[in-house]
Amino acid sequence: MHRMKSLNTSAFAGLALVLALSGCRPDGAKKTLPGVELYAACASCHGTDGFGQALVAAPSIAGLPAWYVEAQLVKFRSGIRGAHPDDLEGLRMRPMSRQMMDEGEVKAVAAYVASLTPMKQAPTLTGADAAAGAGSYATCQACHGVDGKGNEALKAPPIAGQYDWYLVSQLGKFRKGIRGANPKDVTGGQMRPMSMTLADDQAVKNVVAHINTLAK
Ligand code: HEC
Ligand code: HEC
Repeated sequence: MHRMKSLNTSAFAGLALVLALSGCRPDGAKKTLPGVELYAACASCHGTDGFGQALVAAPSIAGLPAWYVEAQLVKFRSGIRGAHPDDLEGLRMRPMSRQMMDEGEVKAVAAYVASLTPMKQAPTLTGADAAAGAGSYATCQACHGVDGKGNEALKAPPIAGQYDWYLVSQLGKFRKGIRGANPKDVTGGQMRPMSMTLADDQAVKNVVAHINTLAK
């Protein structure tokens, strides 16, 4: 009899633990984890500080506005971004976005990313002409701003201070239709024709070299 009772007690403790780990409360309501805890799943690639790392091609995300982070996580989750078979880096990011279980978690982790202090990343480009790039940037500033700080009303993200290798890679993806070509990607579809205004790979490098000169 006594033995039976202690078994029941430990079975109950086990169930309570499972419920706690799955984020379910005994009353059935789902609890959203705080952004800082959700971010633990992101840190292996984007770093605890959010500065990303070249080794895994993860961009710096610290201080990106919450509206942009949220929008991109929603796109990765639904396959509007990162599902193209040639999008090797996007395919790496996609399963991570799917770990965020619901809208509340997407919002919470996006707010945490936005709260991290941004840092200007060091230039790595060689053989690029920033002065020539400044000419091409005239087209870009209508949405991303003269200072590259972006424009929420136009859904254009800040691009100043980002790694140059990431900006080159994204412009290449837009140009090839690896990003922004999905008919459901409204804002990507606005950016794609803009990437086509850059004549070739050299023009892409030049405009990014100009973006490198902008302060974060
Ligand atoms: C396995 C590595 C990995 C993990 C873990 C990861 N990411 Fe990423 N993330 C990437 C890579 C690689 C890219 C670049 C994708 C591309 O080139 O289009 C990226 C891109 C992004 C972008 C787009 C940035 C931009 O400027 O458009 C956001 C936002 C982002 N990640 C947020 C997160 C968040 C939040 C988490 C945690 C829930 C997370 N990532 C976890 C690898 C990862
Ligand atoms: C009509 C407005 C508009 C113009 C002009 C424009 N962009 Fe964009 N750009 C956007 C929008 C909107 C996005 C976000 C796309 C998304 O939601 O995925 C974007 C995204 C980007 C990204 C990806 C940033 C990231 O963090 O992943 C880069 C890089 C970029 N633009 C560079 C440029 C450059 C360089 C030019 C000029 C040749 C330019 N843009 C012109 C609207 C614009």
